[in-house]
This record gives sequence, C-alpha cells and structure tokens, in this order.
Amino acid sequence: MSTRPIVSIIAAVAENGVIGAAGAMPWRLSTDMKRFKRLTMGRPVVMGRKTFDSIGKRLAGRRTIVVTRQHQIGVDGVETAESLPAALTLAGRNAAEGEVFVAGGGEIYADAIGAADRLYITFVAARPRGDVHFPPIDRKSWKEISSESFPAGERDSAPTRFVVFERTGDSRLD
Ligand SMILES: NC(=O)c1ccc[n+]([C@@H]2O[C@H](COP(=O)([O-])OP(=O)(O)OC[C@H]3O[C@@H](n4cnc5c(N)ncnc54)[C@H](OP(=O)(O)O)[C@@H]3O)[C@@H](O)[C@H]2O)c1
Repeated sequence: MSTRPIVSIIAAVAENGVIGAAGAMPWRLSTDMKRFKRLTMGRPVVMGRKTFDSIGKRLAGRRTIVVTRQHQIGVDGVETAESLPAALTLAGRNAAEGEVFVAGGGEIYADAIGAADRLYITFVAARPRGDVHFPPIDRKSWKEISSESFPAGERDSAPTRFVVFERTGDSRLD
C-alpha cells in the first residue's frame, strides 16, 4: 500500500482575501508567526520562489523546498522543485511526521488547494490593500474542525481567528 504525507496549507488571510502586498505581508502578527513556527517545526515546508525571496533564507529546523522554474536558488540548504507536484514528492520522500506544509504565496496556494487535505487559516480582522489573494475556500469541500479567536497582542496589528479545515469526503483533485 502506498503512503503519502498529509498536505496542509498554512496561511494568514484578511477579510478581503488579501495575503500579500508588494512582496510582503500587510500586517504584523507576532502571535501568528509563533504559531507558524510551532506547527511547521520539523516538517518540510514548500513555498513559491517569491515568498522565499521575502524570507531570504532556509527556515530553521525545517526542510525548505522552493517551487521555481529556475534551476538553482543558490542559498545553502534550500531545495528546489520545478513544480508543486515535484515539491510534494520531494517533501514526502523524507517526511518524518507525514505532514507537509504549503506556505504560499498566492500562486502556490491556488495550485495547492485542490490537492491539500487540511487548511490552517489565520483569519485576520483587517481589510488591507494588497496585490495577492488567497483562493476561495469552497465550504462544500472543506469543513471547519476547530476555531479559536485571539485578541490583538502587543505585537499584533489586528485580532485573529485561527481555523483548521479538513477536506470533506473525496474531493481531493489528484
Ligand atoms: N499571508 C500569508 O500567509 C502569506 C504566506 C506566504 C506568502 N505571502 C505573500 O504572498 C506574496 C507572494 O505570492 P506570489 O503569488 O506573488 O508568489 P509565490 O506563489 O510565492 O511565488 C511565485 C513563484 O513560484 C514559482 N512558481 C509558481 N508556480 C509555479 C509552477 N507551476 N511551476 C514552477 N514554478 C512555479 C515561480 O518562481 P520563478 O519565477 O522563480 O520561476 C513564481 O514566480 C508575498 O506578498 C508574500 O508576502 C503571504
């Protein structure tokens, strides 16, 4: 029997669907950054090249796999894949815990949402201007399995609601 890791999308999404502006995130959410680190630690993380550029280095303690049509990224310890499926294959090959995280950005989320099993979404109570959006979450394909609200902490620019969705039935595309 073949096994495959769970494919999980992790994203912070504003009320208007915005996730990015001018190559960065249009908010400051320290609480959410800590949660991202906690959830992804030890797991492979797949991201698009533009998101990687905004980070600029490998994520500590996590295999960092960048989807790009370029052959090399030229950053030590960073793996590259020529497509999202190739990145997921690469990630699954050595996935210690059987869960792979897809961490953006817009192009990669749009590609990945049909193949994902789980969504970890931080809904940000703000409507910032931006140029990159999260794809629509079709409630027929996704059920909310947990939801927790957080007031804005000292180092957060907005309150958030953290929701975990799991795919309903057999609606995965691959
Ligand atoms: N709010 C959040 O949770 C969150 C998370 C992550 C990122 N972001 C934001 O999202 C924005 C970046 O998103 P983006 O949509 O502009 O870019 P992106 O998805 O991060 O990266 C796009 C790049 O990925 C590569 N790529 C995409 N599809 C591919 C395919 N099918 N085959 C091969 N390579 C492919 C290409 O790289 P090459 O050009 O090198 O070929 C493409 O230019 C930033 O503003 C960032 O801050 C927000």
